[in-house]
Amino acid sequence: MLVSAKAMLDKAKAGHYAVGAFNINNLEWTKAILTAAQECKSPVILNVSEGAGKYMTGYRTVVGMVNGMLEEMNISVPVALHLDHGSYEGCMKCIAAGFSSVMFDGSHYPIEENVEKTKELVALTHGKGMSIEAEVGGIGGEEDGVVSSGECADPEECKMVADLGVDMLAAGIGNIHGKYPANWAGLSFDTLDAIQKLTGDMPLVLHGGTGIPADQIKKAISLGVSKINVNTECQIAFAEATRKYVEEGKDLQGKGFDPRKLLKPGSDAVVACVKEKMELFGSVGKA
Ligand code: 13P
Repeated sequence: MLVSAKAMLDKAKAGHYAVGAFNINNLEWTKAILTAAQECKSPVILNVSEGAGKYMTGYRTVVGMVNGMLEEMNISVPVALHLDHGSYEGCMKCIAAGFSSVMFDGSHYPIEENVEKTKELVALTHGKGMSIEAEVGGIGGEEDGVVSSGECADPEECKMVADLGVDMLAAGIGNIHGKYPANWAGLSFDTLDAIQKLTGDMPLVLHGGTGIPADQIKKAISLGVSKINVNTECQIAFAEATRKYVEEGKDLQGKGFDPRKLLKPGSDAVVACVKEKMELFGSVGKA
């Protein structure tokens, strides 16, 4: 059964580790991430962007697929199904469809409107036993058409949004989605420290997990980050393994063109990538 992300993140914050939130795109991705979580005995969050939701024909399909897999694969670790960077309308749809968690990305609204909408969604999600993530300060880069420029969040604004009763807070600390440019300045730990001092027990979320060096990930966790989002790195791992299979001409050997064979190296690469992150984040064995 899907669970809200609240308990797993509160536990992670208290235990000084982070839960990985990995974006799903299709059946293979979902199966790979659940396989890794179960083998690592790790809690996990399945992130779904609005674009991926559309790609999979809609949120109901996603809920049906994930719930079916939890049962058929005998998954016993805690799994949350979470809308990533949701619009107000997207959150409403996921609440109705049976997600267990949503992120309301109101960072592009003026702060007053972000607050109003967040308050409404906090009441709705909590009424259904779901968890909710809010964002303060844009996360740089581009993800499924959502673009912002990697600023650092204002700690006072973070405190104000945290006090609205959200379960986890994404705050920009110089992180960006996708690959980091060679001249990237790194995470702003001063900002993170200031945010954590004002928000106390609130689990903080680090977006743009791809390509952040291990020592910075560990330091971010020590300063209160309890959820880390990873997407691009799994996509690259999948694409590289698939490319290798095709370039080696394996799709032309026997029934190598069977999609179950063609997609297997990529899926295995996603499993390996997710396991590596779970090790780094310290969530192995915490289920
Ligand atoms: P990356 O694609 O950079 O790993 O970021 C993922 C993310 O933050 C999803 O919200």
